Amino acid sequence: MKAIEIRNKYINFFKAHGHKVIPSAPLIPENDPSVLFTTAGMQPLVPYLLGEKHPAGKRITDYQKCLRTNDIDEVGDNRHLTFFEMLGNWSLGDYFKEEAISMSYEFLTKELGIDPAKLSVTCFAGDEDAPKDIVAANAWKKAGIPEERIYFYGKDNNWWIAGEEGPCGPDTEMFLDTGKPACSKECQPSCNCGKYVEIWNDVFMEYYKSKDGSITKLKQQNVDTGFGLERMTMLLQGKETPFDTELFSPVMEKLKELAKQDNIESRRIVAEHLRSSMMIIADGGRPSNIDRGYVLRKLIRRMTRHLNKLQIDLNELEKLIDLYVDTLKELYPELEQNKNTIKEVIITEKNKFIKTLLHGEKEFEKVVAKLKKENKDVIDGYTIFKLYETYGFPPEITSDLAREQGFKIETSEFDKLFKEHQEKSRHGSEQKFKGGLAEQNEQTIKYHTATHLLHKALKIVLGEHTNQCGSNITTERLRFDFTHSEKMTPEQLAKVEEIVNEQIKKDLPVTCEEMTLEEAKAQGATGLFENKYGENVKVYTIGDFSKEICGGPHVKHTAELGHFKIKKEESSSAGVRRIKAILE
Ligand code: ALA
Repeated sequence: MKAIEIRNKYINFFKAHGHKVIPSAPLIPENDPSVLFTTAGMQPLVPYLLGEKHPAGKRITDYQKCLRTNDIDEVGDNRHLTFFEMLGNWSLGDYFKEEAISMSYEFLTKELGIDPAKLSVTCFAGDEDAPKDIVAANAWKKAGIPEERIYFYGKDNNWWIAGEEGPCGPDTEMFLDTGKPACSKECQPSCNCGKYVEIWNDVFMEYYKSKDGSITKLKQQNVDTGFGLERMTMLLQGKETPFDTELFSPVMEKLKELAKQDNIESRRIVAEHLRSSMMIIADGGRPSNIDRGYVLRKLIRRMTRHLNKLQIDLNELEKLIDLYVDTLKELYPELEQNKNTIKEVIITEKNKFIKTLLHGEKEFEKVVAKLKKENKDVIDGYTIFKLYETYGFPPEITSDLAREQGFKIETSEFDKLFKEHQEKSRHGSEQKFKGGLAEQNEQTIKYHTATHLLHKALKIVLGEHTNQCGSNITTERLRFDFTHSEKMTPEQLAKVEEIVNEQIKKDLPVTCEEMTLEEAKAQGATGLFENKYGENVKVYTIGDFSKEICGGPHVKHTAELGHFKIKKEESSSAGVRRIKAILE
């Protein structure tokens, strides 16, 4: 049975049992800044579990795209995935344990044709928060599971909550006996030797856990069930891993064909991370240095590294994406709709990373050679940090490489150094903010105001692309670096001088205001925007001519400056020009 058939059977079965089908919410939660990605089918439904009326009614079924990254380092083994699809059926204050269990049993045994003799179930053993779940156990017995295959466990196994706070409750989990020999006489569903595989979870959400840890009853009794499509597909097809199913196998095969240096773990990582990246991008995610953007960046970087490790030409990426879209478009039409964007985002990110990767890997090899010589097997945080600081080599890639080569890593020192580094660079930007005022006297203050006038005049004459990238002031002159790729013409220089001197003659007032960075941006102020959200900044305004985020100080009126004269215009570095100017 193919994945798409399992999904369709599921949805149709619950439709026939009075459920309305709702579409999958996006992977990027719509109104929930507390989580990076949708991690379970229940997440978009929390308000309705708490008692809000759902427009589709009290019985709902869905197939929800989910992403969980807590086990990202495990991807590459025979089972871990970051992206997966969760099929679910929901009772929002409608049916409860008995009906949920009877439907689960019927679906597994009748629709999917699973031999009842291979099923075991687990129920909640009871504690101070909720009683032993005899009701669930009796429902299983009634459905057809004999007592000896019903197990009771505590909260560790049979209680479900997403995170620390929210709707929760005891659950009952269904396990399939794979037929592998028991690892010991005590082997049970809770054992993870691989004999028993969890296939479905029915959660009886009638409680709410508050921040302080207390547990109270919800207004209504809900059912939230979750069933992983990839795993079920694998089990029903008798495959050893999800990578052997039709969801991944075309890409896995293609990678094998392309690899000059094959290893299955790298192929799984490429196939897995590429799929997740495509799904995130299709739902609007883009790489960045924080939060969900950073998760996506990490996925693409790791994928790139493993493609490289397989010695696959990185230009094959585009064709791999085509193949993946063809493989998955029936399940996820959004991949086809966003194919061009997906390619562009992934390929751009790969291109950005590749130089850093190749350079960093070489440096890493040097580190390894040195450690081996010294007979050491731990890569310390200082080394990880140096690779990051000097070559931009991401710490997670260093960790991956270290592990692969049998080294242990020590990250606590890295964390400390990284924090210091962040503080230093923030401090650095505050320094830059002050406009490079090494000494502060009447003359340097004048040059500082002249710098603002020059910055704006350059934007007028050369265009908005001219941004400040350096400023240095002494009592003798100002020096200003800005982004522009060609040498300025004498006419342009004359025009800039003229504009600045005009503003000086107008004797414009210079005023200062404090506001948040967002307000400053909204007012169109130029300046360094690397400050944190919500942080207060100073904004200096010169008449109606210029507005810049700046630490100051400045003159009060522009007429104090005298006459402005450009002494030199030259190249500073690639794409950056430098002007030296004086006030006479
Ligand atoms: N919300 C439950 C789970 O994720 C069904 O396992």
